[in-house]
Amino acid sequence: ATAQDSNKFKIGLILPMTGQQASTGRQIEAAARLYMAQNGDTVAGKKIELIVKDDVATPDVTKRLAQELIVNDKVNVIAGFGVTPAALAAAPLATQSKTPQVVMAAATSSITEASPYIVRTSFTLPQVSVAMGDWAPKNGVKTVVTLVADYGPGNDAEKFFSERFQLNGGKVIEKLRVPLRNPDFAPFLQKVRDAKPDALFVFVPSGAGAAVMKQFLERGMDKAGIRMIATGDVTDDDQLNDMGEGALGVVTSHHYSAAHPSAANKKFVEAFQKANPKMRPNFMAVGGYDGMRVIYEALKATKGQGGGDALLAAMKGQIFESPRGPVYIDAQTRDIVQDVYLRKVEKKDGQLYNVEFDVIKGVKDPGKAK
Ligand code: DHB
Repeated sequence: ATAQDSNKFKIGLILPMTGQQASTGRQIEAAARLYMAQNGDTVAGKKIELIVKDDVATPDVTKRLAQELIVNDKVNVIAGFGVTPAALAAAPLATQSKTPQVVMAAATSSITEASPYIVRTSFTLPQVSVAMGDWAPKNGVKTVVTLVADYGPGNDAEKFFSERFQLNGGKVIEKLRVPLRNPDFAPFLQKVRDAKPDALFVFVPSGAGAAVMKQFLERGMDKAGIRMIATGDVTDDDQLNDMGEGALGVVTSHHYSAAHPSAANKKFVEAFQKANPKMRPNFMAVGGYDGMRVIYEALKATKGQGGGDALLAAMKGQIFESPRGPVYIDAQTRDIVQDVYLRKVEKKDGQLYNVEFDVIKGVKDPGKAK
């Protein structure tokens, strides 16, 4: 590092900026830049430099980029990670180099166990899926088919939703898994139609929800008496307003809605949309915004002097009000603890939103309770 470098604090932001997961990268980069615009780019005497790299959500690329950022650019923190395989690919490098790794998007429960240098500001699928396993059987849903993207977060959603749903007396008729890459939902939806459950429970990653919704409606599943229930990844605020009236009434469980009725969120959404007129912030944006907050506050707390271990220690236990509601970083697990909401798609001011109607306070990741 040069002398000039010692006055800098570098954040290597690894995101899918192109490809199937590009909306995640676009949302997180916009939110990170908003945080910097609002909070300045000098913290504790250090000039913050954001280095954005596109990994196309491909773990081999993530690994190479993380290596280059750590070794060549000498970044102080690596952050981002749009999908679980990307977060897992970088974890050993974070450990070896003692570089804090702030996971802003990926949401498989086990990620935080892959390195003691990982801190997560997104969520976990068990955290949000259990809430639906409690809500559905109390609201007329006795039989379900599950349909999930076949990788870490989908497997978590399937397991934690099903276990809780069955504990509450519900019956899971069939568990379907669709490939992550270029999924064709048609043959799976045909199976669901034949099985005739009260509801179809869905998890697909951010960006894939609109395709599921479209095919669900085109095949007349709703008219056949099958309800859709899902995690909020499906009624993603990035796409929801373009899903059409067929999405009205869909109930989901999640940790963030752009319609969350707090002053902090109204301020966040307004500022985000002012800076990005064509976008509505989604849960990915909030994970990125809060991740920057966690990094900034750790830098302040260590007075700009902290190496990786000191920064990490200053990230653990942070407690603050996010646009999503009150949150903290659990010092033991390094995972975010947050409120989980039940929401229904409704029309508000001529636009579709996930309107919150119930809340479970202070939910820890159930995947960690061994
Ligand atoms: C993951 C990715 C997503 O887009 C999402 O909505 C949830 C989880 C993941 O790969 O961990």
